[in-house]
Amino acid sequence: MDYIAQAMASGQIAGDQTFSRKCQALLQQTLGVIKALVTTSCTHALEMAALLLEIQPGDEVVVPSFTFVSTANAFALRGARIVFADVRPDTLNLDESRLEALITPRTKAIVVVHYAGVGCEMDPILAIAARHGVPVIEDNAHGLFGKYKGRWLASFGCLATQSFHETKNVTCGEGGALLINDSRYIERAEIVREKGTNRSRFFRGQVDKYTWVDVGSSYVMSDVLAAFLYAQLETWTSIQAKRRQIWELYQAGLAGWANEHGVRLPIVPPHCEQAFHMFYLLLPSLAARGALINHLKERHILAVFHYLPLHLSEYSRRWGGKLGDCPVTEEASDRLLRLPFYNTLDEPNQARVIEAIREFPL
Ligand SMILES: Cc1ncc(COP(=O)(O)O)c(C=O)c1O
Repeated sequence: MDYIAQAMASGQIAGDQTFSRKCQALLQQTLGVIKALVTTSCTHALEMAALLLEIQPGDEVVVPSFTFVSTANAFALRGARIVFADVRPDTLNLDESRLEALITPRTKAIVVVHYAGVGCEMDPILAIAARHGVPVIEDNAHGLFGKYKGRWLASFGCLATQSFHETKNVTCGEGGALLINDSRYIERAEIVREKGTNRSRFFRGQVDKYTWVDVGSSYVMSDVLAAFLYAQLETWTSIQAKRRQIWELYQAGLAGWANEHGVRLPIVPPHCEQAFHMFYLLLPSLAARGALINHLKERHILAVFHYLPLHLSEYSRRWGGKLGDCPVTEEASDRLLRLPFYNTLDEPNQARVIEAIREFPL
């Protein structure tokens, strides 16, 4: 509230002012990315990535089917054909062992999602991408402050995107960021974000007037939201510590029960430091999941599932998507249940959730 009041009192309520710059500097310094630009959403950061890679109609972009719509839609919006990749049964991340078979001469990008904040197998993915000369983009909406083999998620792809939507660990309600690891994209990213103008150069005094120089849109975050976001980013270590505690309590409270009843808990490979974004159960069947949701609802506990496989969506079916294309995704989509997980979840309430699950007759 203090920072928001400061932004308002200073009159800096449009974008690219003090608090936006503070957020960007913190992201750059912490993650070691060469440029961070805060945006109106992760969806918009992904749209910027598609514009920066000059995705054209007829291009192909490889995207996991088990993800949020925006990971694919940002590229479909530019006319790309989305080629859906299935995910690994353990982490539910893009299955790198099936990636190469999806690449054709028309492939212009590979988008990975670090599902639930657990890193994808970036070494083989980057090696395959390099062999074919295809850029990799990280949709890191879940993975802020996670690591793969000791390196921050979002530092692997030429571009990476963050979400600060209210459902994320660090939030400002609605917001995002584009992170850039290849300096060739910086200048054009500033232009694309500022409606296709060189306004950023004008603000820095590098040109005496600003004008229309390229295509772009309005992707700049308001500094009022950046003020909100900065307060969150400043305390990221305590946010992550709290979420770690919640995650570990679920793990400790449910491991025995899950083992006994054929329920799978999240798997985090030893070389991944996860971002503690989510805790989920993989129930034995769709029917068991439905019954558990109802059992929890009766106890006033809201548990939700996601994602509907993108290759089976109404949009993708028009392009030939069909049952059986991504079998691991289809199964996870039927069986996965997310447990209540938010920064202010206290121990008594979490204990109530765990107890309710353990009482569920499987
Ligand atoms: C994997 C993934 N990508 C992209 C998004 C879109 O984020 P935003 O709401 O900031 O546009 C989400 C949102 O939940 C997401 O989970």
